[in-house]
Amino acid sequence: MQEAHQILAARGVPLTVNQVRYSLLSRQIETAGILNTARELGVTILAYSPLAQGLLTGKYTGFDSPTGARRIDPRFSKEGLRKIEPVISLLRSLGDRYDRTPAQVALNWLIAQGNVIPIAGAKTPEQVQQNAGALGWRLSDEEIAQLEQVSRPWLN
Ligand SMILES: NC(=O)c1ccc[n+]([C@@H]2O[C@H](COP(=O)([O-])OP(=O)(O)OC[C@H]3O[C@@H](n4cnc5c(N)ncnc54)[C@H](OP(=O)(O)O)[C@@H]3O)[C@@H](O)[C@H]2O)c1
Repeated sequence: MQEAHQILAARGVPLTVNQVRYSLLSRQIETAGILNTARELGVTILAYSPLAQGLLTGKYTGFDSPTGARRIDPRFSKEGLRKIEPVISLLRSLGDRYDRTPAQVALNWLIAQGNVIPIAGAKTPEQVQQNAGALGWRLSDEEIAQLEQVSRPWLN
């Protein structure tokens, strides 16, 4: 990103965005210095898989097997779902405060990082509509910090 920024800057072109995986369950861009470097360079992070492929919606409970590639993804196994339970539970309780869904809270946390725009995937118009509800309100600083704390296991 630094190199691309430099090459483009020499030609008078700003590096505007960098698309990387980022969510409460994928925070490696923070530990790898990508988020901070983007801030320094004025680059917006486009966060792909911001709902961890649906996990952060809280809809996976372990009772029904997931379909497609998720079937062989250990994060969707009973054990994987058990690990993320504290995150989902906090998303639910914060969501209750604002009358929002866990997905909306998870996306709002990403937006609160400042230079991040989540690009949520969606399969239905209802999902698009719901995810758009991540906009127009803001978690408090304390709530943002609580989510940061509960998702620390996903920094690496
Ligand atoms: N640059 C890259 O290398 C890269 C890599 C991956 C993705 N991307 C891009 O990033 C975007 C998102 O990626 P992703 O699909 O992995 O993201 P995601 O936002 O983490 O997960 C999206 C999936 O979660 C489910 N979902 C979304 N909103 C929901 C809601 N409100 N309620 C219940 N379920 C919901 C849907 O699947 P179900 O209905 O099947 O559960 C949806 O397909 C895509 O546009 C993709 O093109 C880029």
